[in-house]
Amino acid sequence: MSDAYGDRGNKDASITNPKGMGSAIPQHSGQSHAAPGGPFLIGDGMTAGYGNGPDILHDCTIAVDQGEIAVIVGPNGAGKSTGMKAVFGMLDMRKGHVRLDGEDITDLSPQDRVAKGMGFVPQTSNIFTSMTVEENLEMGAFIRTDDFSDTMAQVYDLFPILKEKRLQAAGELSGGQRQQVAVGRALMTQPKVLMLDEPTAGVSPIVMDELFDRIIVVARTGIPILMVEQNARQALEIADKGYVLVQGANAYTGTGKELLADPEVRKSFLGG
Ligand SMILES: Nc1ncnc2c1ncn2[C@@H]1O[C@H](COP(=O)(O)OP(=O)(O)OP(=O)(O)O)[C@@H](O)[C@H]1O
Ligand SMILES: [Mg+2]
Repeated sequence: MSDAYGDRGNKDASITNPKGMGSAIPQHSGQSHAAPGGPFLIGDGMTAGYGNGPDILHDCTIAVDQGEIAVIVGPNGAGKSTGMKAVFGMLDMRKGHVRLDGEDITDLSPQDRVAKGMGFVPQTSNIFTSMTVEENLEMGAFIRTDDFSDTMAQVYDLFPILKEKRLQAAGELSGGQRQQVAVGRALMTQPKVLMLDEPTAGVSPIVMDELFDRIIVVARTGIPILMVEQNARQALEIADKGYVLVQGANAYTGTGKELLADPEVRKSFLGG
């Protein structure tokens, strides 16, 4: 098992305990404090489920740092979307914490997380199909009280086809174009971090490549991206950091390159 980020729990220790002596602080003490130097966004040791149902996530950690693309892969039903929803505050966390830029936001509502700078594109129902493309983007800007026309122009620069189709109902667009609307909508809040759940679901390989190109462009503008992907191999190729989730738990963690080279990961998750 390759785990390039296996020392993440020690980042606090390097601050509180600069001599590097053994730290007695348990990783999940039930309390959280600002963690300067930790990842920009982290769902740390998350245990969560739906309603009164069983735990779906088991001590699961996913994170993304400034300037990074982090990719979550794993089989259907592994809990990838559940992990994203937990980080976005859509289910009750039974254990663990979510921190954004060092601040514990575990108890914030999704709306408050958007105000803090999180942009989230869910796996399903991520656009308003009966509204035009432009209305979708306007809806994305709902929390803004300033002039957002510059941001809309940036989204149209990023996805020129959306400008062409801006007065068309979003439901009339192709799958790949709809995903562009969904990502564009999330960008309208000028997020500090973008979370994408399967942005390339159901699109052709060519459209997938185009979407990945656009996602890299977004990342280069300085927005870290935490993304779930079904196209594991291609996604890990563009990932600074990758997580393989299995049955709600971290199975493998490493750089994209490390995971692509790991024989176990290749055999079990990348088709050899
Ligand atoms: N709203 C829900 N209520 C109850 N259980 C749910 C709900 N959504 C998902 N689950 C359960 O949680 C588990 C993980 O589902 P999840 O959608 O997180 O998997 P996933 O890794 O995103 O899968 P996929 O690759 O198919 O998108 C599954 O057993 C699923 O049945
Ligand atoms: Mg999913």
